[in-house]
Amino acid sequence: FGKEIRYEFQTTSTQIAAHQWAKEGAKEGALVVAEEQRSGRGRLGRSWHSPPHTGIWMSLILRPKIPLAHAPHMTLLASIGVSKGIQRVTGLPIQIKWPNDLLINGKKVCGILCELRGEQDRIHYLVTGIGINVNTMETDLPPELKPIATSLAMELGSSVHRASLIAVILEELELIYTQYLAEGFSVVRTEWEKAAGMLGQMIKARTTQGELSGKALSLNENGALLLQTEQGVVPIYSAEIEW
Ligand code: BTN
Repeated sequence: FGKEIRYEFQTTSTQIAAHQWAKEGAKEGALVVAEEQRSGRGRLGRSWHSPPHTGIWMSLILRPKIPLAHAPHMTLLASIGVSKGIQRVTGLPIQIKWPNDLLINGKKVCGILCELRGEQDRIHYLVTGIGINVNTMETDLPPELKPIATSLAMELGSSVHRASLIAVILEELELIYTQYLAEGFSVVRTEWEKAAGMLGQMIKARTTQGELSGKALSLNENGALLLQTEQGVVPIYSAEIEW
């Protein structure tokens, strides 16, 4: 991964740039990185605060030959790769919140957004967007983010070299991706369950159909979160989780 890199000083969103590049034929592992995004996007139609020079805002193009139904595996896989990379470089303890938020001491330090283009049962390509608050200081955070967000520098008390961190993250991502393609979802599930902070805990899942409460049990074959509710075990495919 990262053999071909497009570096932008400022862009709308590295996701948009990566989609464009993928359509023009970018190879697997191609990466778009930006110093600043004017309209960074988050999951569920939200925006992503991407100020200049303090974070890692990047999008990785992948072309896995897997069924479309297995796309959620890629989201979980990405959170493992990024989390391992961050831990290797900083030594900070990272928790994964389903499906793929990375938290330190309960506050969000990284968000991942997987977008795919495909048809019927074929994935054309996948754009994995990774946003990490690296050298953000408390004073740089907008007031609404202060209670819920953190950065590596805030947790570590010293700054982190972004390019070196990107290199290690790409290495970890490539490793888990290769293992997944060779061995299947079980490697991802085992690693993910080890890193998840929420298994065994009572959680609340806000879905488009309403709110569900229950105990987070594990992941099913499709990467859905299994919740033990009063009505039985329910798989959650898309939701906001609180615990
Ligand atoms: C989330 O937690 O909601 C996902 C946030 C993903 C943010 C990253 S930053 C790089 C890439 N470009 C974007 O516009 N979004 C992703």
